[in-house]
Amino acid sequence: MAKNLELNIPDHVAMIMDGNGRWAEQRNKPRKYGHEEGMEAVRRVTMRASDRGVKVLTLYAFSTENWKRPPQEVHFLMQLPIRFFDKFVPELQERNVKVNMIGFEENVPSSTKKAIKKAMDETKDNTGMVLNFAFNYGSRSEIVHATKAISKKVLEGSLKPDDITEQTVEDYLFTQTITPYQNVDLLIRSSGEQRLSNFLLWQNAYSEFYFSDLLWPEFDGDVLDEALLSYKNRKRRYGAL
Ligand code: FPP
Repeated sequence: MAKNLELNIPDHVAMIMDGNGRWAEQRNKPRKYGHEEGMEAVRRVTMRASDRGVKVLTLYAFSTENWKRPPQEVHFLMQLPIRFFDKFVPELQERNVKVNMIGFEENVPSSTKKAIKKAMDETKDNTGMVLNFAFNYGSRSEIVHATKAISKKVLEGSLKPDDITEQTVEDYLFTQTITPYQNVDLLIRSSGEQRLSNFLLWQNAYSEFYFSDLLWPEFDGDVLDEALLSYKNRKRRYGAL
């Protein structure tokens, strides 16, 4: 923690990895080729983030809205975690990186869930950076899910409405698993788009935003470093003066 404060490295960096399709189209290749290269970018960025002392790196890998894509592409995206972990878990182990996942399990193929669970099990004792995939994740649904769970507690009588605080809500969000780093410090989006796309709405309340025009497959550690440098020079006031 002290080291991080000194260098002003954000504890929690979250990324919206956008532009795989456009990157492939620019090369007259199928979209899946872009996702393929996107995996390599995930690897490069993960390694650099871990080297820089980031505590949690959350990557938006599949949103609840991505089900609207053509079935072939959805199928391909569902297979990516299997391929990614098959290839990169040894490297994650070497770096002491721990895998985590946030999102809804429903509709995710069992083979994908199995691969995710395996990667989480294999890395569970690692004490370095947490590589947190947002998979079948949508922030509004996450908040509804938390609201239902809190309502049940109230109905059971184990929680009084007046005792519900911001902390209570945080305890029921998926990001409870990355305590104490639930809140995002730095949000990065690639491909020139400047929107949040239903990603960690609660957790981004006070984050700093960094947008890059590069497409996701072009991302690497040096782009991450530029974002970290930009973050370092910002003054976060959290509403105070
Ligand atoms: C956005 O590009 C990217 C995605 C929806 C998928 C993200 C997946 C990866 C980066 C691969 C790595 C994933 C794992 C699980 C290791 P887009 O398809 O929206 O691109 P476009 O906006 O140019 O069409």
